Amino acid sequence: MVTETELSPGQHKKLSRIVYEESGVVLNEKKYSLLVARIAKRMRITKITSVNDYINLISSDPGEFSEFIDATTTNHTFFFRENKHCEYLIKILDKKNTLKIWSAASSSGEEAFSIAIQLLANSFSFSIFASDVSDSMLNLGRRAVYPKARVKDVPLSMLHAYFQKGKDKKKGYVKVKPAVQQLVTFAKFNLLSDTPADTFDIIFCRNVMIYFDTPTRQRVVDNLCQALKPGGYFFVGLAESLNGLDHSLTTILPSGYQKK
Ligand SMILES: C[S@@+](CC[C@H](N)C(=O)[O-])C[C@H]1O[C@@H](n2cnc3c(N)ncnc32)[C@H](O)[C@@H]1O
Repeated sequence: MVTETELSPGQHKKLSRIVYEESGVVLNEKKYSLLVARIAKRMRITKITSVNDYINLISSDPGEFSEFIDATTTNHTFFFRENKHCEYLIKILDKKNTLKIWSAASSSGEEAFSIAIQLLANSFSFSIFASDVSDSMLNLGRRAVYPKARVKDVPLSMLHAYFQKGKDKKKGYVKVKPAVQQLVTFAKFNLLSDTPADTFDIIFCRNVMIYFDTPTRQRVVDNLCQALKPGGYFFVGLAESLNGLDHSLTTILPSGYQKK
């Protein structure tokens, strides 16, 4: 039974180390129940009844390894979340330039599409690179179909302009219109191990470093700052900050920074 899944201290250590090394997410003793719930779900799906057999499976099957990492990261997001950052950018950005924007832990795409919609509505020219470690989240972003609850904070005028309403079986869903979708490119990028191949005017890396320890945050910030153009903007989640990290960015608003 799923509810009876337990991890020995050795199994907990082994599994949390795998997650930490792959994604940077810290699943320490305080996160024991979360890890148990997520592994129990994967064991149910793969019809495996012993934790050791499951550990062997993720060691030999890259597909299940990826599913396991997906299951242990938190993907929660919604449209227009922490929208103050985008409102600020709309006020200060120059419309003459074509902006390159990176949503660096995009989950299922709501952050990238929220930015795209607002920049389009304000006649900016831009492209957005949306990346995540999770293949399943990236696929949801590429599909661009969302339950209505996710768009509850989208102003009605924008909802009508940039989304199609689902019909019949899809009644409870909306789909981002192709004109918005074509401005956002989804690709896999691990903040810990991949090196950015491009530079950006604006980078959003929100609500992911909260799951990392300080050395991992430092690595991620170093990595992303390299990809930020001089004068570019960098945003973390409102519950996060770069306090305690080495960086040369200037604070411009809560959780918002600029590279000089
Ligand atoms: C809570 S979501 C944040 C979504 C969006 N940025 C927001 O603020 O609403 C965190 C995302 O970070 C991703 N993530 C975790 N570790 C990662 C890593 N090492 N590299 C890239 N993405 C990672 C997870 O897969 C998840 O989709």
